[in-house]
Amino acid sequence: GSVIYNYYTHTVKEPIQMENVQLTVNEGIATLVINRPKQLNALNKQTLAEISEAFESMRNDDGVKVVIMTGSGEKAFVAGADIKEFANFSGVQGSELAKTGHMTVFNSIEEFSKPVIAAINGFALGGGLELAMAAHVRIASDNARMGLPETSLGVIPGYGGTQRLPQLIGKGRALEMIFSAKMIDAATALNYGLVNAVVPQEALQATAENMALGFMKNSIVAMGYAVEAVNAGMLEGAIGYDVEVQAFGDCFETADFKEGTKAFLEKRKPEFPGS
Ligand code: CAA
Repeated sequence: GSVIYNYYTHTVKEPIQMENVQLTVNEGIATLVINRPKQLNALNKQTLAEISEAFESMRNDDGVKVVIMTGSGEKAFVAGADIKEFANFSGVQGSELAKTGHMTVFNSIEEFSKPVIAAINGFALGGGLELAMAAHVRIASDNARMGLPETSLGVIPGYGGTQRLPQLIGKGRALEMIFSAKMIDAATALNYGLVNAVVPQEALQATAENMALGFMKNSIVAMGYAVEAVNAGMLEGAIGYDVEVQAFGDCFETADFKEGTKAFLEKRKPEFPGS
């Protein structure tokens, strides 16, 4: 549904309820909850549009200083892009899905001028890990599991994962995660530098808020410039995002993709024809 954004700086606001995203602003800290727990907060089109809308609403809102992104429930941050929604897409539609996602959500979070902290409260897989990696800083609960399982579906990460994972943990570890499609636990993610801290699940929100409070003591203007400068340093590899969009779409034309997504939906292991 449509929502009117209207925040005050020094009050606790009623949570704003869109269909799949909930946004609360409290003393300068905005908490954005991806709220589709029955599908483990998987990112369908509607959810992505709402995330985009939420960030747009916060962009010029002086009442928002720092953003915390998290998932609803105790099980998942976000279990990826919604596989049901794209299983029958063509190559062109696949590329379009990735490109729209990059432009409206993932790049705009990475470029957001106020600090964005991902509080990873459970599974962060595929597009879910990609969402966490688009944030500026990540904190995980000790039950969190992270991975890029796309190759097990016959596709590649399409929301920036082929670029941001190697930036964060190095090429060898990133390719191992992409090839194996396996999840890593929170301790491994900490060891890799994929997350900055791991805390018990009960302490996750408070830890993220404490971090946010620490950031808020510093110049919001300077932090915005820091984001710009840090991101500019990555621009040399920026063509990789375009290659990802194209290659992601190309996967949709393969027999492997058709088998991979079909197997997921039928809750069985895929038997990839290799073509
Ligand atoms: N898309 C759509 N639905 C999903 C989903 C997804 N990514 N992840 C979970 N769900 C749904 C399940 O289908 C299930 O729905 P039903 O109850 O209607 O059957 C519900 O959420 C609960 O999930 P499970 O029953 O599978 O829960 P589990 O505890 O047995 O397993 C899990 C948890 C290991 C996270 C498993 O759900 C899983 O493997 N999910 C898919 C992870 C994945 O492959 N993500 C990558 C998506 S592709 C992508 O993201 C592309 C890109 O880069 C753009």
